[in-house]
Amino acid sequence: MIIAVDGPTASGKGTVAKALATHYGLPHLDTGLLYRAVGWQCARNGGNPDDPAAAFAATSFTDALLVEDELRSEATGGLASRVSVHPAVRQALFDRQRAFALQAGGAVLDGRDIGTVIAPEATAKLFVTASVEARAERRWKEMQGRGEDHSLATIEDDLRRRDERDRTRAEAPLLPAADAVILDTSALDRAAAISAAIALVEQARR
Ligand code: C5P
Repeated sequence: MIIAVDGPTASGKGTVAKALATHYGLPHLDTGLLYRAVGWQCARNGGNPDDPAAAFAATSFTDALLVEDELRSEATGGLASRVSVHPAVRQALFDRQRAFALQAGGAVLDGRDIGTVIAPEATAKLFVTASVEARAERRWKEMQGRGEDHSLATIEDDLRRRDERDRTRAEAPLLPAADAVILDTSALDRAAAISAAIALVEQARR
Protein backbone atom coordinates (compact mmCIF):
# COMPACT_ATOMS: atom_id res chain seq x y z
CA MET A 1 0.00 0.00 0.00
CA ILE A 2 1.44 3.37 -1.04
CA ILE A 3 -0.09 6.46 0.56
CA ALA A 4 0.70 9.80 -1.13
CA VAL A 5 0.13 12.95 0.95
CA ASP A 6 0.65 16.22 -0.92
CA GLY A 7 -0.12 19.81 -0.06
CA PRO A 8 1.29 23.26 0.68
CA THR A 9 3.47 24.31 3.61
CA ALA A 10 1.88 24.11 7.07
CA SER A 11 -1.29 22.47 5.74
CA GLY A 12 -0.91 19.65 8.26
CA LYS A 13 0.32 17.14 5.66
CA GLY A 14 3.37 16.16 7.72
CA THR A 15 1.26 15.48 10.82
CA VAL A 16 -1.27 13.52 8.78
CA ALA A 17 1.43 11.52 6.96
CA LYS A 18 3.21 10.57 10.18
CA ALA A 19 -0.05 9.53 11.83
CA LEU A 20 -1.05 7.41 8.81
CA ALA A 21 2.36 5.72 8.87
CA THR A 22 1.92 4.85 12.55
CA HIS A 23 -1.68 3.71 12.03
CA TYR A 24 -0.83 1.37 9.14
CA GLY A 25 2.66 0.39 10.39
CA LEU A 26 4.35 1.79 7.28
CA PRO A 27 7.65 3.65 6.88
CA HIS A 28 7.35 7.39 6.22
CA LEU A 29 9.41 9.76 4.08
CA ASP A 30 9.15 13.53 4.41
CA THR A 31 10.34 14.44 0.90
CA GLY A 32 10.46 18.17 1.74
CA LEU A 33 13.46 17.35 3.88
CA LEU A 34 15.40 16.23 0.79
CA TYR A 35 14.78 19.57 -0.93
CA ARG A 36 15.64 21.37 2.30
CA ALA A 37 18.95 19.49 2.44
CA VAL A 38 19.75 20.56 -1.13
CA GLY A 39 18.87 24.21 -0.38
CA TRP A 40 20.93 24.22 2.80
CA GLN A 41 23.92 22.49 1.17
CA CYS A 42 23.79 24.90 -1.78
CA ALA A 43 23.94 27.90 0.57
CA ARG A 44 26.77 26.29 2.52
CA ASN A 45 28.71 25.78 -0.71
CA GLY A 46 28.31 29.52 -1.32
CA GLY A 47 26.11 28.76 -4.35
CA ASN A 48 23.10 30.68 -5.62
CA PRO A 49 19.94 28.51 -5.19
CA ASP A 50 18.47 30.07 -8.35
CA ASP A 51 21.41 28.79 -10.41
CA PRO A 52 20.60 25.28 -11.71
CA ALA A 53 24.25 24.11 -11.70
CA ALA A 54 24.90 25.29 -8.14
CA ALA A 55 21.64 23.70 -6.95
CA PHE A 56 22.38 20.41 -8.73
CA ALA A 57 25.90 20.27 -7.20
CA ALA A 58 24.22 20.37 -3.77
CA THR A 59 22.20 17.19 -4.44
CA SER A 60 25.28 15.22 -3.32
CA PHE A 61 24.54 16.17 0.34
CA THR A 62 25.33 13.46 2.88
CA ASP A 63 22.46 11.71 4.72
CA ALA A 64 23.79 12.88 8.11
CA LEU A 65 22.50 16.33 7.15
CA LEU A 66 18.88 15.11 7.19
CA VAL A 67 18.69 15.10 10.99
CA GLU A 68 20.02 18.64 11.46
CA ASP A 69 17.64 21.13 13.13
CA GLU A 70 18.69 23.88 10.73
CA LEU A 71 16.83 22.07 7.94
CA ARG A 72 13.53 22.85 9.72
CA SER A 73 13.93 26.64 9.73
CA GLU A 74 11.84 29.01 7.62
CA ALA A 75 15.00 30.25 5.92
CA THR A 76 15.88 26.72 4.77
CA GLY A 77 12.28 26.21 3.60
CA GLY A 78 12.70 29.26 1.36
CA LEU A 79 15.97 27.91 -0.06
CA ALA A 80 14.29 24.52 -0.65
CA SER A 81 11.50 26.17 -2.61
CA ARG A 82 14.09 27.91 -4.82
CA VAL A 83 16.26 24.84 -5.59
CA SER A 84 13.18 22.68 -6.17
CA VAL A 85 12.22 24.53 -9.38
CA HIS A 86 15.23 23.07 -11.25
CA PRO A 87 14.40 19.90 -13.23
CA ALA A 88 17.93 18.49 -12.66
CA VAL A 89 17.45 18.73 -8.89
CA ARG A 90 14.05 16.99 -9.06
CA GLN A 91 15.52 14.28 -11.29
CA ALA A 92 18.43 13.73 -8.90
CA LEU A 93 16.01 13.15 -6.00
CA PHE A 94 13.54 11.06 -8.00
CA ASP A 95 15.12 7.57 -7.72
CA ARG A 96 15.49 7.77 -3.99
CA GLN A 97 11.83 8.74 -3.49
CA ARG A 98 10.60 6.18 -6.00
CA ALA A 99 12.61 3.38 -4.34
CA PHE A 100 11.16 4.38 -0.97
CA ALA A 101 7.63 4.28 -2.38
CA LEU A 102 8.13 0.85 -3.95
CA GLN A 103 9.65 -0.94 -0.95
CA ALA A 104 8.00 -4.22 0.01
CA GLY A 105 4.98 -3.70 2.24
CA GLY A 106 4.38 -0.13 1.14
CA ALA A 107 5.12 3.37 2.42
CA VAL A 108 3.74 6.80 3.19
CA LEU A 109 5.38 9.78 1.46
CA ASP A 110 4.52 13.42 1.87
CA GLY A 111 5.48 16.30 -0.40
CA ARG A 112 4.21 18.23 -3.39
CA ASP A 113 4.31 15.77 -6.30
CA ILE A 114 3.97 12.33 -4.72
CA GLY A 115 0.57 11.54 -6.23
CA THR A 116 1.41 13.12 -9.60
CA VAL A 117 5.07 12.22 -10.28
CA ILE A 118 6.72 10.01 -7.65
CA ALA A 119 3.97 7.41 -7.14
CA PRO A 120 1.10 7.98 -9.58
CA GLU A 121 -0.05 4.41 -8.84
CA ALA A 122 -0.50 5.13 -5.10
CA THR A 123 -3.34 3.28 -3.36
CA ALA A 124 -4.55 6.48 -1.69
CA LYS A 125 -3.80 10.09 -2.62
CA LEU A 126 -4.58 12.85 -0.17
CA PHE A 127 -4.17 16.53 -0.96
CA VAL A 128 -4.06 18.25 2.40
CA THR A 129 -4.75 21.96 2.34
CA ALA A 130 -5.87 24.86 4.58
CA SER A 131 -6.47 28.59 4.19
CA VAL A 132 -3.32 30.71 4.13
CA GLU A 133 -4.51 32.44 7.33
CA ALA A 134 -4.88 29.13 9.19
CA ARG A 135 -1.49 27.93 7.95
CA ALA A 136 0.25 31.18 8.89
CA GLU A 137 -1.21 31.05 12.38
CA ARG A 138 -0.03 27.46 12.88
CA ARG A 139 3.43 28.29 11.64
CA TRP A 140 3.51 31.37 13.89
CA LYS A 141 2.63 29.28 16.97
CA GLU A 142 5.25 26.67 16.03
CA MET A 143 7.89 29.39 15.68
CA GLN A 144 6.92 31.00 18.99
CA GLY A 145 7.42 27.58 20.58
CA ARG A 146 10.94 27.49 19.14
CA GLY A 147 11.65 31.00 20.40
CA GLU A 148 11.72 32.46 16.85
CA ASP A 149 9.99 35.82 16.81
CA HIS A 150 8.37 36.74 13.47
CA SER A 151 5.21 38.74 12.84
CA LEU A 152 2.14 36.91 11.59
CA ALA A 153 2.05 39.22 8.54
CA THR A 154 5.64 38.32 7.55
CA ILE A 155 4.88 34.60 7.83
CA GLU A 156 1.70 34.99 5.77
CA ASP A 157 3.60 36.89 3.06
CA ASP A 158 6.29 34.25 3.01
CA LEU A 159 3.73 31.42 2.69
CA ARG A 160 1.99 33.20 -0.19
CA ARG A 161 5.32 33.67 -1.97
CA ARG A 162 6.26 30.02 -1.50
CA ASP A 163 2.81 28.78 -2.59
CA GLU A 164 3.06 30.91 -5.71
CA ARG A 165 6.53 29.58 -6.58
CA ASP A 166 5.50 25.95 -5.91
CA ARG A 167 2.27 26.30 -7.92
CA THR A 168 3.61 28.08 -10.97
CA ARG A 169 6.88 26.24 -11.59
CA ALA A 170 7.05 24.39 -14.90
CA GLU A 171 8.30 21.11 -13.45
CA ALA A 172 6.01 19.16 -11.06
CA PRO A 173 3.92 22.14 -9.86
CA LEU A 174 1.98 21.83 -6.62
CA LEU A 175 -1.37 20.53 -7.89
CA PRO A 176 -3.70 17.82 -6.62
CA ALA A 177 -3.57 14.66 -8.75
CA ALA A 178 -6.79 14.18 -10.74
CA ASP A 179 -7.67 11.22 -8.51
CA ALA A 180 -6.62 12.82 -5.19
CA VAL A 181 -9.10 13.53 -2.41
CA ILE A 182 -8.90 16.99 -0.85
CA LEU A 183 -8.67 17.27 2.92
CA ASP A 184 -9.13 20.86 4.10
CA THR A 185 -7.79 21.14 7.65
CA SER A 186 -8.57 24.88 8.18
CA ALA A 187 -11.23 24.15 10.79
CA LEU A 188 -9.86 20.82 12.08
CA ASP A 189 -7.64 20.19 15.06
CA ARG A 190 -4.87 17.58 14.95
CA ALA A 191 -7.04 14.64 16.07
CA ALA A 192 -9.91 15.51 13.70
CA ALA A 193 -7.51 15.88 10.74
CA ILE A 194 -5.98 12.47 11.48
CA SER A 195 -9.31 10.64 11.76
CA ALA A 196 -10.55 12.30 8.57
CA ALA A 197 -7.36 11.17 6.80
CA ILE A 198 -7.74 7.57 8.00
CA ALA A 199 -11.37 7.53 6.83
CA LEU A 200 -10.28 8.77 3.38
CA VAL A 201 -7.57 6.12 3.08
CA GLU A 202 -10.07 3.42 4.09
CA GLN A 203 -12.43 4.69 1.39
CA ALA A 204 -9.66 4.61 -1.21
CA ARG A 205 -8.72 1.01 -0.28
CA ARG A 206 -12.24 -0.24 -0.91
O1 C5P B 1 7.30 20.49 2.78
P1 C5P B 1 8.43 21.44 3.02
O2 C5P B 1 8.02 22.80 3.50
O3 C5P B 1 9.50 20.85 3.88
O4 C5P B 1 9.09 21.65 1.57
C1 C5P B 1 10.05 22.64 1.33
C2 C5P B 1 10.03 23.01 -0.15
O5 C5P B 1 10.52 21.90 -0.91
C3 C5P B 1 8.64 23.30 -0.72
O6 C5P B 1 8.29 24.67 -0.64
C4 C5P B 1 8.76 22.85 -2.17
O7 C5P B 1 9.22 23.91 -2.97
C5 C5P B 1 9.82 21.78 -2.15
N1 C5P B 1 9.29 20.43 -2.30
C6 C5P B 1 9.03 19.99 -3.58
N2 C5P B 1 8.59 18.71 -3.79
C7 C5P B 1 8.39 17.88 -2.75
C8 C5P B 1 8.63 18.33 -1.42
C9 C5P B 1 9.06 19.63 -1.24
O8 C5P B 1 9.19 20.74 -4.54
N3 C5P B 1 7.99 16.62 -2.99
